[in-house]
Amino acid sequence: MSQKPDRYAVIGNPIAHSKSPQIHSAFAEQSGELLEYTRILGEKENFAHHVHDFIRNSGRGLNVTVPFKQDAWQLVNEHIGSAALAGAVNTIILTENGQLQGANTDGIGLVRDLANNHEVELAGKDILILGAGGASRGILAALLEQQPAHVLIANRTASKAQDMALEFQSLGEISGSGLQNLKSQNFDIIINATSAGLNDRIPDIPDTLLRQNGVCYDLMYADKATAFVRWGQQHKARLSLDGLGMLVEQAAESFFLWRGVHPQTAPVIKMLRP
Ligand code: ATR
Repeated sequence: MSQKPDRYAVIGNPIAHSKSPQIHSAFAEQSGELLEYTRILGEKENFAHHVHDFIRNSGRGLNVTVPFKQDAWQLVNEHIGSAALAGAVNTIILTENGQLQGANTDGIGLVRDLANNHEVELAGKDILILGAGGASRGILAALLEQQPAHVLIANRTASKAQDMALEFQSLGEISGSGLQNLKSQNFDIIINATSAGLNDRIPDIPDTLLRQNGVCYDLMYADKATAFVRWGQQHKARLSLDGLGMLVEQAAESFFLWRGVHPQTAPVIKMLRP
């Protein structure tokens, strides 16, 4: 009798354009893991129902994307790794004894893309994060773990950045401010975690923000260079990167949490790059 593949899925709304099925199918093929990975269009009010339904039908794990990452954090029985502080879960793991564990692999995905794929070290660097929403919260613990000299969160609404810095202060050197306080400061690495790029815009930032040989990173990706990637190019960044590598790296960490296997990410990034 042939063995049935283990079932996984990504849940979000919208979900049709998610690249996760393609990424995980490539990982499975490459590593010889027998699994099936599908998309679930989640209804806003029914997140818990969708998850329990999937698990009842032999689901072993889920990726969670917008707008359900906070719902997933609420739903799971236990948070692992950086998920507790992140307040958001992007990976659900069914344990042997039927418990749901929640992880957040976004931060590790970003750090691995920078360090392994682009040889950008974070230790000792001055890092600026633009934005103080869910995307920033998801990456902070992993960034601080790399022991940068300092992380500044700058946000249009200054109080949100200040509050977030206080929440993470036990993990490293971190502070928060308003975007308007950035004049006369500069940084080795600037990470755009705002949602301004959804409208092909960038936050209002000074032209002097990036140090020589600095690196820009946009957590968003698109088929064409995003507005922030273009800003980096125009301001002589050594590297101006979008979030495609992070997307594949966060998926690889989810795959590892489920299967105990580290897939190769470089061929998958290459396959997805338009
Ligand atoms: P996400 O989950 O993508 O982080 P979010 O939690 O809604 O989404 O947060 C969006 C972030 O982008 C916020 O930091 C927001 O700034 P405010 O807190 O001041 O609203 C920021 N943002 C969105 N559009 C922006 C713009 N045009 N300029 C600057 N910041 C912007």
